[in-house]
Amino acid sequence: MNRLASADVRLNAPAYVKNARLIEWVGQIAALTQAADVYWCDGSQDEYDRLCQQLVEAGSFKKLAKRPGSYLAITDPSDVARVEDRTYICSQKKEDAGPTNNWMEPAEMRALLQTGRADGTPALFKGCMKGRTLYVIPFSMGPLGSPIAHIGVELSDSAYVAVNMKLMTRMGKAVIDLLGTDGDFVPCVHTVGAPLADGAKDTTSWPCNPTVKYIVHYPETQEIWSYGSGYGGNALLGKKCFALRIASTMGRDQGWLAEHMLILGVTSPEGKKYHVAAAFPSACGKTNFAMLIPPAALGNWKVTTIGDDIAWIKPGKDGRLYAINPEAGYFGVAPGTNFKTNPNCMESLKQDVIFTNVALTDDGDVWWEGMDGAVPAHAIDWQGKDWTPAIAKETGAKAAHPNSRFTVAATNNPALDPAWDDAKGVAIDAFIFGGRRSTTVPLVTEARNWMEGVYMAATMGSETTAAAFGAQGVVRRDPFAMLPFCGYNMSDYFQHWLDMEHKLQSENSNLPKIFCVNWFRKGADGKFVWPGYGDNARVLKWMIGRVEHKAQGEGHFFGISPRYEDLDWTGLDFSKAQYDSIIDADPAAWAAELKLHDELFKTLEFHLPAELKATKQKMQAALAL
Ligand code: GTP
Ligand code: SPV
Ligand code: MN
Repeated sequence: MNRLASADVRLNAPAYVKNARLIEWVGQIAALTQAADVYWCDGSQDEYDRLCQQLVEAGSFKKLAKRPGSYLAITDPSDVARVEDRTYICSQKKEDAGPTNNWMEPAEMRALLQTGRADGTPALFKGCMKGRTLYVIPFSMGPLGSPIAHIGVELSDSAYVAVNMKLMTRMGKAVIDLLGTDGDFVPCVHTVGAPLADGAKDTTSWPCNPTVKYIVHYPETQEIWSYGSGYGGNALLGKKCFALRIASTMGRDQGWLAEHMLILGVTSPEGKKYHVAAAFPSACGKTNFAMLIPPAALGNWKVTTIGDDIAWIKPGKDGRLYAINPEAGYFGVAPGTNFKTNPNCMESLKQDVIFTNVALTDDGDVWWEGMDGAVPAHAIDWQGKDWTPAIAKETGAKAAHPNSRFTVAATNNPALDPAWDDAKGVAIDAFIFGGRRSTTVPLVTEARNWMEGVYMAATMGSETTAAAFGAQGVVRRDPFAMLPFCGYNMSDYFQHWLDMEHKLQSENSNLPKIFCVNWFRKGADGKFVWPGYGDNARVLKWMIGRVEHKAQGEGHFFGISPRYEDLDWTGLDFSKAQYDSIIDADPAAWAAELKLHDELFKTLEFHLPAELKATKQKMQAALAL
């Protein structure tokens, strides 16, 4: 029997905790995991500072001399990214998880994780928090008290998770107050899966389970159970697990969308403001696009950030789609971030940041590949080893892990949109979908209608990145950038998007336009042809021109793309020949691409909307002309 549970039935719960279901559940989990102590996070700055100090003393955090209020965490080499092959959707029926998700019968998974198996194998969560503190982390995804927000409570044995959740979500006592006596919440249980024997202390600064990891979702009962990893989306359960996988099933049932999308505001020189939501797969440019500074040469265009990773989008009474960012911070990719590519981000990172797996310089600052200024002559790399440019040249060792990240509150962002915290959300004028493709896919294409847009999104391919464990640079289909994040059958998800058109059209005909982009075409020299980053504003300007029925383009077999003269080139030296090489849709390459669409459709045959195949046939016919 858990010592703590028997000694104190309220499990250290502060007097302000009034929710009986919450207290009972914390008691159950404390007993199951045999946590040594229970701590309820109030979300205060004082608490954040204390926990960070504790992490410093445990050797898990290094305080950065050069960045006020900032810390560096270095993980176990086995725990550096999301683990898609260890991620499960445990719906009652396998077909509800669909062919793109790992599935196990809920009862079987519960035996494995919670209750123990018939053959006597003990449950993984049994005793998994021995010797550790269980942190109760109450959080709101979305503005506190907003009708579109949802509350979760994460129970975690990681102080790193607690402090990250403080930056990433609205976390603490205010959430408990909102829950009142009988408010509802999504229960999220997380353990690093490294129990300590009696009196033992950690021998590593990043306790985790290097070999056993499970990231588990029960969509019907809306529960999340995560075992063995302390990293990012595996452990900060409000993010991908709740705000995408569980929320996508809520959206399916309730008629809204939970998407892997940034949300930005864009104001034209005439002072007109529009809102754009864009889905790019992991490490394909959402944070950068959400914070971009348009080149001054384009005139007075301004971009402001509402969100950089996730959007919850609901139809309003006026028939428009309204989006909120359920998060309150950014967990962004460090490598490649600098004052030239993303100045707003670099400004955001000046203070109060948690860095994970970047390099430590000798003067107590952080460094990563692609940062501005001189490459340090010496640093400690993300594995704690000496790193010098000579070592890098010889061994190829990266100072920062390719998926190293920063955690920072949205309020640090100088380009934060005034409406970022608005419970109503912002009305979406355009959706963008874009993968990382070194060949085949043009810089930008506008869908001629909703159906065509859904087709583009559904068949999107992208080269895999370091954001997920596994091989990199391999083209895979990543429908809607949701392949790792859709909590139900992907074909049903396509249908949900198709149904949305009819739902919106019955109210008004002003549907958001849908575009498809690719910033990542490479030339014969293997280098990116398109300058990207701030210059993506040139494409954004064309899109807004299309929304305003001002800009021109040229129709081709799968949509409309701008001709050279349709983009604003002021201040950029980019030749027509260069442009042709990234806007062209080569018929032979597309014949091969359409075969890959066929393969995808074969995998997704069950419940695949017939309109998608029909659209493909039309494209095929147009291509053959
Ligand atoms: P997640 O947080 O994993 O969802 O990633 P994200 O979609 O927010 O990607 P992010 O903006 O962090 O960019 C990932 C990597 O792509 C970084 O190394 C960026 O420097 C690089 N990148 C972003 N935008 C562009 C671009 O327009 N062109 C090129 N060439 N690289 C880009
Ligand atoms: C992604 O992989 O898309 C991320 C990072 O945004 S993580 O939170 O680790 O999922
Ligand atoms: Mn992401």
